[in-house]
Amino acid sequence: MRNNYQKILITGGAGFIGSHVVRLFVNKYPDGMIYNLDLLTYAGNLENLRDLENKPNYRFIKGDITDQAFIHDLFTTEKFDAVVHLAAESHVDRSIKDPLAFINTNVLGTVNLLNAAKDLWQHNIGDHLFYHISTDEVYGSLDEGGFFLETTAYDPQSPYSASKASSDHFVRAYRNTYGLPVIVSNCSNNYGPNQFPEKLIPLFINNIKNNQPLPVYGKGENVRDWLYVIDHARAIDLIFNEGRIGETYNIGGFNEWKNLDLVKLLCRVMDEKLGRDPGSSEQLITYVTDRAGHDLRYAIDATKMMKELNWKPSLQFEEGLSKTVDWYLANTEWLEHVTSGSYQKYYQEQYGN
Ligand code: NAD
Ligand code: DAU
Repeated sequence: MRNNYQKILITGGAGFIGSHVVRLFVNKYPDGMIYNLDLLTYAGNLENLRDLENKPNYRFIKGDITDQAFIHDLFTTEKFDAVVHLAAESHVDRSIKDPLAFINTNVLGTVNLLNAAKDLWQHNIGDHLFYHISTDEVYGSLDEGGFFLETTAYDPQSPYSASKASSDHFVRAYRNTYGLPVIVSNCSNNYGPNQFPEKLIPLFINNIKNNQPLPVYGKGENVRDWLYVIDHARAIDLIFNEGRIGETYNIGGFNEWKNLDLVKLLCRVMDEKLGRDPGSSEQLITYVTDRAGHDLRYAIDATKMMKELNWKPSLQFEEGLSKTVDWYLANTEWLEHVTSGSYQKYYQEQYGN
């Protein structure tokens, strides 16, 4: 591991991507101590990490990255060597309803962590690493052609992406101003096990399973670039170890799908797995009012990752989607737990039936 770090703080480790990163690090680095700091919001779920509970090199800490005094004390006590920062509010639709929650967690929370790291590491700052996980949405929206490069100018269009862009700027400003060793990576849409069913793929898997309408925004013409979550976790591990300080890495699978094509593929996969008549799930497709300010297209150019760090996605999309559907069909208890309670209220407010 980079610099033979002993104590690594991962924030947001009970969430979707964070849980896969925590698992990879705990299993791969038995000699290092992996701390998972998570507030356990609606999106954080310790059921994602049951298999790690008794590992001697894993510790869960429940806490809020926006709590300045708590974060300062935690860094002072635990003396982390490096930080991998994933904790965030992550759903665009929620950011449209409540932008301040996104500014609070994504901007203030990130700056709290940066301050705590800067203060703790002041005497040997160069020996450490603050690795910030971000999104391709900071680059804005593409038309039919072109890709997001690491050099593409930021042009965030939603409250979520504006908050992530702001946090990215703060991370880079801390390198420039205080010499904090930072790396930023910007990834495209992830899918896979443990994703909260407010996001397109798990929401639609759950609705198909329950014969509920599939609410496609607008005409379903928006394009997203999909990457299996474990390939993102592998990329994060590579960057953590071999990424160059001060650099930005774009992560994506060169795997663009128009929403409607993706939904139709998912319907076919589900019909087959559930033993339903071909074409039956497609009848659930319902066109609903478009997302406000809906970005048309995201597409990442991941050439730098591939050339510099020799990374490439391990799965084709059809295979990844099939594995994902299998996971949701096998983990009905997980799905039932996360779709009870406050999820019902969110669903009513968002989709209104
Ligand atoms: P998620 O919503 O599934 O998980 C976020 C986690 O952060 C949850 O466990 C939650 O409890 C925790 N959290 C939220 N507020 C907190 C706070 N104040 N203090 C401590 N913990 C808090 O998100 P995700 O989809 O796993 O995304 C993780 C990171 O990756 C985010 O920074 C997101 O912007 C970024 N990202 C996500 C995607 C994607 O497709 N999901 C793609 C690129 C980048
Ligand atoms: O690009 C990376 C980003 O991908 C991450 O930074 C975000 O955290 C993550 O949520 C995701 O953002 P999107 O907005 O692209 O993902 P979502 O799953 O919400 O939507 C994917 C597409 O599907 C988008 O064009 C909107 C559409 N959609 C979504 C939902 C929830 C629908 O048509 N109907 C829906 O009900």
